[in-house]
Amino acid sequence: MVSQARFTAYVALAMLFLSTAAVSQEITVIRAGALFDSRSGDVEQDRLIFVQDERIAGVTDGDEPIPEGARVIDLSDSFVLPGVMDMHTHIVGNLSNNYFSGYFQSPHRATIGGVVNAHITLLAGFTTIRNVGAGDYADVAIRNAINAGEIPGPRLAVSGPSLGITGGHCDSNSLNFSYEERGDGVADGPWAVREQVRKNVKYGADLTKFCATGGVMSKGTNVGMTQYTLEEMEAIVDESHTHGRKVAAHAHGNDGIKRAITAGVDSIEHASFLDREAIQMGIDRGTFFALDIYNTEYTLEMGAANGLPEENIAKERQVGTVQRQSFTLAVEMGAKVVFATDSGVYPHGDNGKQFARAVRFGMTPAQALQSATSLTAELLGWEDRVGAIESGLYADIIAVHGNPLNDITEMEDVDFVMKGGVVYKEQ
Ligand code: ARG
Repeated sequence: MVSQARFTAYVALAMLFLSTAAVSQEITVIRAGALFDSRSGDVEQDRLIFVQDERIAGVTDGDEPIPEGARVIDLSDSFVLPGVMDMHTHIVGNLSNNYFSGYFQSPHRATIGGVVNAHITLLAGFTTIRNVGAGDYADVAIRNAINAGEIPGPRLAVSGPSLGITGGHCDSNSLNFSYEERGDGVADGPWAVREQVRKNVKYGADLTKFCATGGVMSKGTNVGMTQYTLEEMEAIVDESHTHGRKVAAHAHGNDGIKRAITAGVDSIEHASFLDREAIQMGIDRGTFFALDIYNTEYTLEMGAANGLPEENIAKERQVGTVQRQSFTLAVEMGAKVVFATDSGVYPHGDNGKQFARAVRFGMTPAQALQSATSLTAELLGWEDRVGAIESGLYADIIAVHGNPLNDITEMEDVDFVMKGGVVYKEQ
């Protein structure tokens, strides 16, 4: 019997061929040896993916006739899956091994670094990312240039400057007071934070990022300590949601995590010190947890060589192991744990290394892939655009040679990248 979904795909394809009979060269057909279904976590063998312009037109069995003149991409030896997504990146800035180089880079130079990093990230198979925190609205400029087709890069959801308290993790604290150094998004008090959210919306932010606790990479903050009052957090969330913007809260400490969940944020970033109660609160409220469990290895190995101050390396030692235990517990309890790596803390393009850590610390390989496809689409509210290989969604499609369900490190070496029907990498 033909299933309803299959029947719908056939009808859509029949209509597609009728409407494009004269210009069938616009159609691309991908022959997929194995195809990952990100909704079910299952794998289907020998499928054809029909792509018209930037969207997927249908998926059929391998014996469906290929329209004359169609471009055929043969991935019959490969494992094909939706483009993966990273919910926590910092692409702006050019990567250097000098921790303080940011002080000597103009915003223009930092933006050019972002252009380069966007391309590197796309080539690693990440067709959609969130950039959570950028000065000068450089992230907005990069997103707009990508969307205009001027530069290659992933689909970007950007926050603009992160909101934070004076002297907090999202401020900038290294120089003495006479320099009047200050993070772009610093705002204290419920009305000031509302004003900053409005400003970010005005200049093009897709979401809000704020700091609910101290952090590892900042000077003089304590990872366990809460920043912002509940009243301020509620004001940030209310103002952002009023403008249709989701809210990502940086939070390591348990109290700050709970306060941010209570305030109604959409995702907790880092989520290092989770207990059962915090996870249950997140499950009850539908909050996503975005734990960046790879970068601790990079920081502990390379931090000193990169000139990272001892204060920050010591904080990383406090956070790394416990964060991985929190990851295991959150996955065990069935929380929505999304793929999020904090690229920029480690070199861009290595994002895929986190998949192996996700499996080591409790996810099945299929779950790890879903955490970066269907689940991330849900967090973004972009289920109608990305996260699956289905008729009507953007043709964001990647492939690896081996089967990542057998060896998840395959995700560290993506061989084929298509975004919006355009091929960016083919091997
Ligand atoms: N940006 C984060 C912070 O400074 C990085 C934390 C990285 N460490 C970790 N184990 N996830 O707090």
